[in-house]
Amino acid sequence: MYRLVYFSNANIDLNPSTIEGIVDKAAVRNRPLQISGALLYNGLNFLQILEGPHQSLTPLYLQIRKDPRHSGVVKLVHERISARIYPDWGMRLFCVAPKRAAAPMETSPCAKDLPAMIDAFFGFGHATALAELR
Ligand SMILES: Cc1cc2nc3c(=O)[nH]c(=O)nc-3n(C[C@H](O)[C@H](O)[C@H](O)COP(=O)(O)O)c2cc1C
Repeated sequence: MYRLVYFSNANIDLNPSTIEGIVDKAAVRNRPLQISGALLYNGLNFLQILEGPHQSLTPLYLQIRKDPRHSGVVKLVHERISARIYPDWGMRLFCVAPKRAAAPMETSPCAKDLPAMIDAFFGFGHATALAELR
């Protein structure tokens, strides 16, 4: 079994109901593929954790990558695992309030490195937690 985590930029036109629609469909489609995971959305970016068998995980990731509702997909983690973090859900949505709408460019997480972006996304300390997952 494998875990894949990626980060992407959400399409500017997305609204909360579109995102709920993506997740509802994903939950239904993922179950028979034995894929579980979580989708985090902060108003600007996605961070998705996908867990499941290699033979369904890799094609699904390649399909998600091509989805025009997001761009700039960066794979952060792809590793073999013995247990799932999210065993119970086909796909679970977590929303985080955007924190940088009024931030100047130089202090925006966009202008920083990837761990800083992950910390901005989740809150302080999670980049370290993700690094430990690798
Ligand atoms: C951020 C994001 C996450 C997605 N996650 C999943 C997912 O976990 N499972 C899934 O089947 N589709 C997911 N999708 C949708 C797929 O990209 C794709 O639209 C879906 O699999 C249906 O593809 P089809 O319309 O070509 O059959 C996601 C899309 C986005 C934008």
